[in-house]
Formats: sequence, C-alpha cells, structure tokens
Amino acid sequence: MTTGADSPYSDAVMDHFRRPRNVGELDDADGVGTAGADTCGDVMRIWIRVRDDRIEDIRYKCRGCPTAIACGSAVTELAKGRHIDEADAITADTVETELGGLSDEKRHCSNLGAEAMAEAIWDYTHRCISADDRDGESQDV
Ligand code: FES
Repeated sequence: MTTGADSPYSDAVMDHFRRPRNVGELDDADGVGTAGADTCGDVMRIWIRVRDDRIEDIRYKCRGCPTAIACGSAVTELAKGRHIDEADAITADTVETELGGLSDEKRHCSNLGAEAMAEAIWDYTHRCISADDRDGESQDV
C-alpha cells in the first residue's frame, strides 16, 4: 500500500521519514562510516557500537532527501542487534525491499544507507586489526 496514486513514496518510506529511528551520534562508536551521492550531494554518516561481534547500538545522521532519511532509518533498524557479518551483508536492495520499493529516481538513495553501513563496518574491522597489530608489537618488546 502506498501513500497515494501520485506519490512516489511507499507508506514505509513515509513512516521512516516522518519518524526516523536511531537518529544522532554515538560518542563511543567502534566504527564510523560516511557515504555521499555524487549526483545530488546528499551525505549520510553511521556510527556503530559493537559488542561480542553484534551491533549493540547504531545511530545515523543524514543531510539529504526524504528517501535518504528513510533509508538511514531503515538500514539502522535492519542492522541493530545483528552479527557484524549479517549487517555487512545488507545491500541497497535489502534496504529498498524493507522500504517497499523505490522509484527509479530514488533508487540511489538506498545506496547511501548501505554504503555508509559498509564503511562503518570497514572502519570497525580496521580498528580491530590495528589494535591486534599494536598488541602484537607490545608482545614483541
Ligand atoms: S536524492 Fe540523492 S540521496 Fe536521495
């Protein structure tokens, strides 16, 4: 069901846009990811806190269109509580499906959420590897 025959937005997009979940920042984030859309200049940033390989908490901020705001809300809801590998498997298609489909013009907005999510996980993984390297160096001394 959509908001109306003339609306390009599904009910799910409108719900996430009007009541976005997980908006804000995490001061103690374990990973931060940013993605931008060259075509429109919209930007999204996602913060994740990871405990026992699960995304314990997640926040996002978006400077963008209503669909991008909805995609940020949807991708953070999809990732929250998931194992880091499951969250890493979230794609733009996953986000689009969660939102009940997007118009051709708005399809790139779902990339923004998925890419920012992937960047946050990459940042988390990179920090873990760097910490492991530091631990290894200290053991060698
Ligand atoms: S119009 Fe560019 S992210 Fe939505």
